[in-house]
Amino acid sequence: MSTFWISNYSSLILKVDINLTLVQSLCMDKFTISPIPELIFGAGTIKKIPELITDRGYSTIVLITGGSSFLNSVYWHELAESLNKRSIKFYHHRSIGETSPEVVDGIVKEIKDIEIDAVIAIGGGTVLDTGKAVSAMLCMSGSIIDYLEGVGTKEPTGLRKPLICVPTTSGTGSEVTKNAVITRVGKDGFKKSLRHSGYIPDTAVIDPLLIVSCPPDLTIATGLDAVTQLLESYVSVKATPFTDNLALQGLKLAGRSFPLIIFNGNDIERRAEMAYAAYLSGITLANAGLGVVHGAASVLGAIRPIPHGTVCGTLLGSATELIIKKLLSDNSTDSVYLEKFSHAGTALTGVKYESTEEGCRNLIDILNRWIQDYRVPGLSSYGFTEKDLLFGAKSTGIKNTPTTLSTEDILKLFTDRI
Ligand SMILES: [Fe+2]
Repeated sequence: MSTFWISNYSSLILKVDINLTLVQSLCMDKFTISPIPELIFGAGTIKKIPELITDRGYSTIVLITGGSSFLNSVYWHELAESLNKRSIKFYHHRSIGETSPEVVDGIVKEIKDIEIDAVIAIGGGTVLDTGKAVSAMLCMSGSIIDYLEGVGTKEPTGLRKPLICVPTTSGTGSEVTKNAVITRVGKDGFKKSLRHSGYIPDTAVIDPLLIVSCPPDLTIATGLDAVTQLLESYVSVKATPFTDNLALQGLKLAGRSFPLIIFNGNDIERRAEMAYAAYLSGITLANAGLGVVHGAASVLGAIRPIPHGTVCGTLLGSATELIIKKLLSDNSTDSVYLEKFSHAGTALTGVKYESTEEGCRNLIDILNRWIQDYRVPGLSSYGFTEKDLLFGAKSTGIKNTPTTLSTEDILKLFTDRI
């Protein structure tokens, strides 16, 4: 995968493998497509950031990174040196762990009185969310809690500082989306979004060279998050022909690259494919929505400190099996969803199928095999109790899952992965 730029949707659609155009949407009625950021993709594109900053006339920026991996790399030193050479003043902040209200409010408090031209976030999904939230809160007063969905009472304005997102993992797709997930774990915990279409970043710079150092456990968790996002948006009741094509392309790329990069993180070509798959998952989730696994992830992630990708990964196989069983037993359901699950199985495995049931089985098998082979931890590893799971099951929304699930169904899903 070589370096390329995308500045509009037509160039993105042209890259879709026509062999993957297997199932079109459930309806060709009305739908809308959210804007995407400008994309600068390819090995070495991190070096373009200083030039971007200069070209856009920014002289003072906030640079938000994670704890250590990027900071220990040669790319950080080169970036800092290049910014200094260009006399670009930068305020560096670290965002470690989940993006909490305290992290965001703390950074904003320190820089609020400085004339900031732009925010650059370089890191995993939580770092990008911190950058997105800081860019927004520099243009609003009060605490970010006031503006969170389901928590605060104020409406976000959608105004923000210019924002460039540079992912160093292949998972959340936050570099494309309009929300920042803010987390408080434990009593009165929540995992809620600051959301507005105005918060879609201006530019995403995806450089697979920054991702090669991602360790196997993080590669597994983030990769399973991306796969979950692609699959849930593909079978979403809000899916469109646009998201179907991109989701299938992402699943195909993830199917061939994800297993390889776990044990060979230096495979730059496969890292690039997985990074692109994660990017596509951000577009598809933003436009088609997600399903019960993400509904559960936001509830369980607020109860115990389980990483987002791990909770998605651990539930994905069982959830897919449960949904398919429900669809098979529901005679009134349109079988197009079962066809879509089968096509997703082919995209992930490369194996063609004789019947829809066989295609669905191939999908369930590959997901369960990954969970087993890559030793994705169960919920008990993070201290979940029976009481937690019952509370979690009652609070979980199924989002855009293409069948109904009862609280008992969701509880069984959790207990199967305890
Ligand atoms: Fe996710």
